[in-house]
Amino acid sequence: MQASGECDSARAVSEQRALGAIVLAAGLGTRMRSARAKVLHELGGVPLLHYPLAAVGALDPSRVVVVVGHQADAARAAAEASGVRGIRSVLQAEQRGTGHAARCALPALDGFTGDVLVLYGDSPLVLPTTLRRLVETHRTGEADLTLLTVRFEDPTGYGRIVRDPDGRVRGIVEERDATAAERAITEINPGFYCVRAEVLRPLLAALRDDNAQREYYLTDIVGLAAARGHTVLTVEVEQPDEVAGINSRVELARMEAKLRAQTVERLMAAGVTFEDPETAYVGPEVEIGADTVIGPNVTLRGRTRIGSGCRLDGTAWLVDATLGDRVHLLFGCWVEKAEIGPDAIVGPFARLREGSRLAERVHIGNFVETKKAVIGAGTKANHLTYLGDCEVGPDSNVGAGTITCNYDGFKKHRTRIGARVQIGSDTQLVAPVTVADDAYVGAGTTVTRDVPAGALAVSRTPVKFVEGWVGRFRARNGAAAPDAVTPPQRRRIKPRAAVAKPRKVGRRHRALAKSKAARRRGR
Ligand code: UD1
Ligand code: MG
Repeated sequence: MQASGECDSARAVSEQRALGAIVLAAGLGTRMRSARAKVLHELGGVPLLHYPLAAVGALDPSRVVVVVGHQADAARAAAEASGVRGIRSVLQAEQRGTGHAARCALPALDGFTGDVLVLYGDSPLVLPTTLRRLVETHRTGEADLTLLTVRFEDPTGYGRIVRDPDGRVRGIVEERDATAAERAITEINPGFYCVRAEVLRPLLAALRDDNAQREYYLTDIVGLAAARGHTVLTVEVEQPDEVAGINSRVELARMEAKLRAQTVERLMAAGVTFEDPETAYVGPEVEIGADTVIGPNVTLRGRTRIGSGCRLDGTAWLVDATLGDRVHLLFGCWVEKAEIGPDAIVGPFARLREGSRLAERVHIGNFVETKKAVIGAGTKANHLTYLGDCEVGPDSNVGAGTITCNYDGFKKHRTRIGARVQIGSDTQLVAPVTVADDAYVGAGTTVTRDVPAGALAVSRTPVKFVEGWVGRFRARNGAAAPDAVTPPQRRRIKPRAAVAKPRKVGRRHRALAKSKAARRRGR
């Protein structure tokens, strides 16, 4: 840590001083070449903006102001979805620089006295401990303004920290405004500041846009503070990755790879096996129990929780999924907002959609889709089935090709299947409908009424046989018929030419003959 400026020892540090925060998230991010605001691009499956907000949130500030601009509604929604308490969004209608953005936040800090953390929404990996160190240094050093600095081997793109010969900070110079000598400086500004509220306001008011980009630079508050004799302190960060910003898609992809590697290594250290760590796409909030084995090409996102002793064979997509212990997910499964109980077996190629809850030992097999399906312990649905908006009791068996017909074009209707029920293959359950405990449904049945407990429901058209049809059909089409389907011997039919032309006996002839006979009888 290095300090510069006057030190006013008379000013007591109050532990009770309030903490506020400003997070700048209004920029488009021109270098992303995107129609989407930069802070909405995702890292580990969550918007970039979540990360700095979560880090700030860990310090429990009394006010957090997020400055939004591009795609303001979506950015506001993303800020709220971060779950950090006390967030207020303010609009920077026109993006006139980071200093201007911070100015836009001031009305939301009206009446606030204390320290204000100011940071950017595009620096996702900062740790709460580092922010705490920044605030503590600021307070114990009785500073007016304290900022993080870091040394980058390649400082390209970052503002450089300019110091006087005694090592005191004189200011920050942006790359575009820097001289060749300043560009050679490797100590850079990662963009994390802690400033006394009463100092921040006049500093922001004094900013000017007389620079290469014609913008109001937030970074200029550092030079202004130093020039006005305020106490300016710096805290040097050892880990450059932690405070790196994202300005382009290449940087985003590199950060993604780093974050993923960190997460996977943390999980491996906690006892999880990754068969191919390179293709494990694991979000930062995912939790996995010890002795679980994760196969290749698996994406785990959101608040996914996986128990211990599980096995994910590979090629799986899980978002906000909960898996109990010893679950086996066979190859190629898709699970979103669904729960799988302990010892369940799912897949290959199963799709469990939101609201699906599988109890312990459930088997869900290939090409089975579930949605809002609550399935009891030990129940099986192993093949080609759709279970939507339904409850199935324990120890039931749902045959291949079963479909809950839950949607009438307007509403979704529920199907209730009891315990120990056998649903035959190719059954349609036209909801709302109930199949009570211990009932059987015959294969090929369309269930349109409630089935009583212990009853057999069956709806079938009788099967009829047309003997020898195949052989005749093949013969008609010029195919040789194998013995098994040779047409059975029929009455020999003479060739057409040899057959005497049958007399035409139509209705008129018959009527005529009848009346003749009657006349004869009458004679
Ligand atoms: C900024 C710093 C630079 C620092 C770097 C660290 C300035 C002038 N420069 O540069 O010294 O080394 O971050 O990553 O501050 N934003 C707004 N409104 C605006 C402009 C930007 O809200 O009008 C937001 C952006 O959404 C972004 C953040 O401010 O989250 C930083 O903006 P960006 O354009 O990325 O600044 P850098 O060029 O990276
Ligand atoms: Mg940036």
